[in-house]
This record gives sequence, structure tokens and C-alpha cells, in this order.
Amino acid sequence: MPLVELVNLRKEYKTLVAVKGLSLTLEPGDIFGFIGPNGAGKTTTIKMLATLLEPTSGIARVNGINVAENPEAVRSLIGYMPDAFGVYDDFKVWEYLDFFAAAYKVPKIDRPGLIDMALDLTTLTEKKDAYVDELSRGMKQRLCLAKTLIHDPKVLLLDEPASGLDPRARIEIKELLKELKAMGKTIIVSSHILPELADFCTSVGIIERGELIVAGPIEAIMKQVLGGRVLEIRVPDIDREKATALLPSVEHVKSVKRIGETLRVDYSGTLDDQSEVLLALIHGGVRVQSFAEQDTDLEDIFLRVTKGLVA
Ligand SMILES: Nc1ncnc2c1ncn2[C@@H]1O[C@H](COP(=O)(O)OP(=O)(O)O)[C@@H](O)[C@H]1O
Ligand SMILES: [Mg+2]
Repeated sequence: MPLVELVNLRKEYKTLVAVKGLSLTLEPGDIFGFIGPNGAGKTTTIKMLATLLEPTSGIARVNGINVAENPEAVRSLIGYMPDAFGVYDDFKVWEYLDFFAAAYKVPKIDRPGLIDMALDLTTLTEKKDAYVDELSRGMKQRLCLAKTLIHDPKVLLLDEPASGLDPRARIEIKELLKELKAMGKTIIVSSHILPELADFCTSVGIIERGELIVAGPIEAIMKQVLGGRVLEIRVPDIDREKATALLPSVEHVKSVKRIGETLRVDYSGTLDDQSEVLLALIHGGVRVQSFAEQDTDLEDIFLRVTKGLVA
């Protein structure tokens, strides 16, 4: 059974259709990057999953439970981090967490231990007795994450957790997300900035004007959008012309471009086929200095998708 399932989920605000029939399935341990420009419908979708907005139509399920029919049961399974942090002037850090733990009906006796764990994970232990409004923006954001973890939810719904932070604080949030991934959490994390999510998402969905334009495992999306992989091959100057002439005749090679010192090859074959390219070069007498597959470039995918290069 999928852990999170959206079936034709739709939300209308009066005349505006914010989410237009969105379908999505997440298995336990999936980290789903929900990417799209402002106003695309990310927050609306996440709020429906978080039981805070009723879908106009369609179904959202968490662990098989229909969100609209049994919101209470769903709430104990999810940790929701909203895109805006509320003001809690008179709370100390530990009181803030204790308040939410109580709201989630965590037994009083278990709370101190859980609070310490959440503080440790978000590196806020030193700030336990500080007032919330004395924290830096980055710390507040981490505290907000600590709050979403306090009842040990299976699924985390994080709405732009790194937005508005300086580069250092962004890195801290990223590190934290990696730890949560390692803990086995299933995460939906939204962003309007792509590279931010690239290194730890297992799947991504790109949303525009309420519609998922593409969604799936990163590898599959790469294939769908780029038509395969990009190989970067370095050869000595004297062999470059030979290589450029030879490569287009190798099976699955779509194009060859010279970029600085390297040759960039658009390649539609599988990983197993890929070695044939290297063999062909060597048999052709080309000395190969390096041969590598270019890293997944989510930004590139995003640009191609939003430019309408994908039907
Ligand atoms: N409460 C609301 N009432 C009316 N329109 C809304 C409301 N909330 C969001 N919208 C509109 O719905 C669309 C999607 O918004 P949102 O889900 O916040 O997108 P995102 O989080 O991707 O920026 C936008 O056009 C936004 O203006
Ligand atoms: Mg939003």
C-alpha cells in the first residue's frame, strides 16, 4: 500500500482552480521534491494533505486513510511545516515544543525526552531556554522542523523549508533533511528553487498552474525530458577531431558538442550500453583521458519542461 496517495485531487477557490486534478503516489522512504514557481499550487496541495483544506474533489490518502473522512487519524501520521512561521512571543523554545507535543497528545512523561531529541537533531539544544522570538531566522526554521518531528510522524510535509534563509542556514536545513531521510521518513518538500532539492530527492514533480507537468523518479524524468544521459568525455587536443568525427556513428549517440576541453555527448542508451561508446573510441585509436556521466541537473530539466519542450 502506498504511504501517500493523491487521486485526481482538485481545489477551487471561488473562480480560481488552484489544483487541477493532481495524482501522485509515494512509497515509504520516498523523498518527493515538489517544484514549481510561486502560485503554482504547492501550498494548496500540501495543505489538503495536512487536513487543513478540504479538497473540492478527488481523494488524498495517508497510509490508506482518507484525509477528508478521518483527519484526526491522518494528523498523527504527518508532520506539517507551513511556509510561514507564526509568532509565539512568550514561548521559550522548550515550551513551544512542549505545547505542540501536548497538542499531539504525547504523554507528559514522554515529552522531555522527545523534546531533547528534537532539539539535538536540529542543533538547538543550547537554545532550549531561549525565547522563540530571540532566535535567528534559520534557528526559527529549524525549531519549526523540530516541532513537526515531535510526535514522530511517518510523513513530513515541508512547505519551502529553506525559503528566505541565507546560504549558510539553507545548508543547515539541507543537512537536516538528509538526516531525516536517513531516519527513514517519507518526505514531501516543496521549493521554487531547484538545485536545492537535487541531491536528496528520490522523485520529483514539477507543478505549474495547478497541474503536474512531469512526475516520477529522478532517473525516469531525466530520460523523459533529456531523452537520456549526458556523457562528458575528455581527450587530448590532437585526438579531438578524430573523436568528434567518430562519435556520431556510435549507436545511441544523439549529438556531440565541444565545450571547452570536453566533449558533451547526448546519449539515449542504457548504462549497460554506455561502455560501447568508450570501446568505440579506443578501437578508433582515440586516447581517452576521462569518461563520465554528467550529474543529474534538475535545473536543466525544469527549464526544458517549463519552456514547453515536453508534451
Ligand atoms: N485562500 C485563497 N483564496 C483564493 N486564492 C488562493 C488562496 N490561496 C491560494 N490562492 C491562489 O491559488 C493559487 C495557488 O496558490 P498556492 O497553493 O499558494 O501556490 P504555491 O504554494 O505554489 O505558491 C494561486 O493563484 C494563489 O493566488
Ligand atoms: Mg507556497
